[in-house]
Amino acid sequence: MELMEGLLTRRSVRQYQDKKIDKETIKKIIKAAQHSPSAHNMQPWEFLVIEDKKFMEELRYIQRWTSFAKNASCVVIVCGDTDKAFSRDKDDEKWTYVDVDCAIATQSLLLAAWAEGVGTCYCGAAPMQKIVDALRERLNLPENIRPFAIVPMGYPAETPKQPDDRYDESKIKWIEKV
Ligand SMILES: Cc1cc2nc3c(=O)[nH]c(=O)nc-3n(C[C@H](O)[C@H](O)[C@H](O)COP(=O)(O)O)c2cc1C
Repeated sequence: MELMEGLLTRRSVRQYQDKKIDKETIKKIIKAAQHSPSAHNMQPWEFLVIEDKKFMEELRYIQRWTSFAKNASCVVIVCGDTDKAFSRDKDDEKWTYVDVDCAIATQSLLLAAWAEGVGTCYCGAAPMQKIVDALRERLNLPENIRPFAIVPMGYPAETPKQPDDRYDESKIKWIEKV
């Protein structure tokens, strides 16, 4: 699929066929996500590929807008490693790029999946601290691993409606001189 076509046609898919995505396809999709830009090129992400049906059914008790995840082929939890991310915590500076990097990787994951004919839906975890903590506890993750996004994946069993054109010229400001 051509990149521009993928960007314009990717939609959230919440209904999935009862068909497994093979490991090679999942690896190909994650490889594309791992080629995302990251602050200082720290690549502070980890991808947990979960195929455990019980976990996928339970997910909605952790994040209430994920009830459809139980029918996915797998759920990928995109995590950020706070020890690896480009960050500062000294003097009067306190910041980290961990969520920014993970957001970019998640978007790449969605687009790469779409290019492979796989449907996904970005489901939020960070910055909702209760959900971050609940996922970390359920998955037994160390403190430095921050669950960022929950991405159910599966071959689409629906053709999501394409939205009206989202192009909004009024949100573009042409600045020739400041
Ligand atoms: C940060 C973020 C969190 C989201 N969380 C959820 C979610 O919990 N459950 C869900 O069904 N969709 C979720 N979505 C998907 C949005 O509803 C969807 O992207 C939006 O309606 C636009 O539709 P599209 O993805 O088809 O373009 C989330 C999207 C983003 C970017």
